[in-house]
Amino acid sequence: MNAAASSPFRIEGPRIIVALDCPDSRTALALAGRLDSRHCRLKVGKELFTRAGPEVVARLTAAGFDVFLDLKYHDIPNTVAQACTAAADLGVWMMNVHTLGGRRMLEAARDALAGHGERPFLVGVTVLTSVGADELAEVGLNGGPEENVLRLARLARAAGLDGVVCAPAEAARLRAEFGPRFLLVTPGIRPVGSGRDDQRRIMTPAQALQAGASYLVVGRPVTQAPDPIAALAAIQTEIDALT
Ligand code: C5P
Repeated sequence: MNAAASSPFRIEGPRIIVALDCPDSRTALALAGRLDSRHCRLKVGKELFTRAGPEVVARLTAAGFDVFLDLKYHDIPNTVAQACTAAADLGVWMMNVHTLGGRRMLEAARDALAGHGERPFLVGVTVLTSVGADELAEVGLNGGPEENVLRLARLARAAGLDGVVCAPAEAARLRAEFGPRFLLVTPGIRPVGSGRDDQRRIMTPAQALQAGASYLVVGRPVTQAPDPIAALAAIQTEIDALT
């Protein structure tokens, strides 16, 4: 199901997006088979897509899941536009491009999707949640993550994207500036007691939603848990307690 055309900014359905960072199609489909599309959406990223390709996306959507295709396109405008069209043809619910690709690339992505009746949500990756100020400086981006995220989010908004991917720590600032209609998709989610892994800017699910996140991307705390279903249910309980 794709809501972008009919109701682009209303948050409906599950707020949790489980990152299916699995090594192969069989593992991904087995995990998805234990999950319920009424309780979560699914994210297919570079690892799974490179191994399993469009077919796994088709099988997940056929099983009723909304799929966020997380390939973070970053290329010349024409190439990104064609890739966005291909992703929309797959019937994904959400997809992303990297804001560092620049305004013309972002606008090309937006325009490519505009032709689709039921287009996916288009969000821009700002600064990866694994990156801190030291690494930003190393690639020539002055200032801390928040400053860079804000600048890139403004660019995404100006280019007509539906929202951005950001760390939960930046959500409150972005929500205050951009209002309720701009999607904030936050990875770097770690329930209390979960390991930090390679993420550096993290929050719990409840903290992230309170900060203004629209959707929470949760990977290893669910997929690597001894009981993934129980881990997902615990996050849902934490979220439900907010309302
Ligand atoms: O396992 P974990 O919860 O850290 O997974 C986070 C997921 O979100 C990964 O699939 C990662 O690729 C993705 N992601 C991220 N930071 C971004 C964009 C996407 O961690 N800025």
